[in-house]
Amino acid sequence: MAANFPIARPRRLRRTAALRELVAETQLAVTDLVAPLFVREGIEAPQPIVSLPGVMQHTVVSLQAEVRELADLGVRAVILFGVPATKDAVGSGAFDPQGIVQVALRTLRAELGDRIVLMADLCVDEYTDHGHCGVLDADGNVDNDLTLDIYAKAAVAQADAGAHVVAPSGMMDGQVGAIRTALDRAGHTEVSILAYSAKYASGLYGPFRDAVDVQIAAGGDRKGYQQDWRNAREALTEVDADIAQGADMVMVKPALPYLDVIAAVRQRVDIPVAAYHVSGEYAMIKAAAANGWIDHDVVALEQLTAIKRAGADVILTYFTRWFAERAATRVQP
Ligand code: PBG
Repeated sequence: MAANFPIARPRRLRRTAALRELVAETQLAVTDLVAPLFVREGIEAPQPIVSLPGVMQHTVVSLQAEVRELADLGVRAVILFGVPATKDAVGSGAFDPQGIVQVALRTLRAELGDRIVLMADLCVDEYTDHGHCGVLDADGNVDNDLTLDIYAKAAVAQADAGAHVVAPSGMMDGQVGAIRTALDRAGHTEVSILAYSAKYASGLYGPFRDAVDVQIAAGGDRKGYQQDWRNAREALTEVDADIAQGADMVMVKPALPYLDVIAAVRQRVDIPVAAYHVSGEYAMIKAAAANGWIDHDVVALEQLTAIKRAGADVILTYFTRWFAERAATRVQP
């Protein structure tokens, strides 16, 4: 029975695909996305990562081809992670000019110049034999301030090698300020900092740790430096501190369990907000879709759009290439 008063009829604007496109509040674009890429030292051919279907550990040569293809597809940024051939107590590969990421950065910058933004994850967990994001003190705890010295050296090495953006992900207190100071002293005043400001001690990083061959020593975890997932207000304290120290962009990580945090950060700051749709978030979609339990494309698009809707300007996602290829071939309604 039709109502005899003018009820709101939102369904009128949902009738056709063209109408829905016209009134959509959120547009996800290739230019919002950053592709995380892995480069491994000492391999002859790219290696698949079992828990991250479609993602590779690259050689420098295969990485170069991948980044070139992404740039041709309209992708504007990549973020590099290194897998060194050898690890040590302080993570020397993170700041050695001949470390794998530095070698890769020089190669990419020489070929691509400023065509695509080259970001470098700045941490030592891939490079330490104990798998922690910092150096350890005599009791086996991560020493905050000694770690800052290492991050400062890594930032300068990455900037020297051609990084446009360095992205500290270790959650040490004062890391952004230490890195900004070191970059400026080395003459890299133009290199920007994407701070992993609100990074949670998540269970969703498992596939990433396979990708970079990291095992945290003695059943350890990162709860002593990454954030407790029960806390949202604390994220704002972290964001404020990073901006005060010179962050150019701030990040929330992971993305979907923390949409409330993304929205709160977006409300609070006027600089770009990034969110990292992490390895476990990607792997869940891949695994469920492989079983035929969900529709891969629909769920991937739904999740990435939700992250944008919550307030992220920039999304780091392993779906970047998929989205860019889809955008390039998509039939309009
Ligand atoms: C630390 C770092 C991690 C990720 C990005 N940078 C792992 C960790 O904190 O254990 C995870 C990214 C992902 O899961 O996709 N260098």
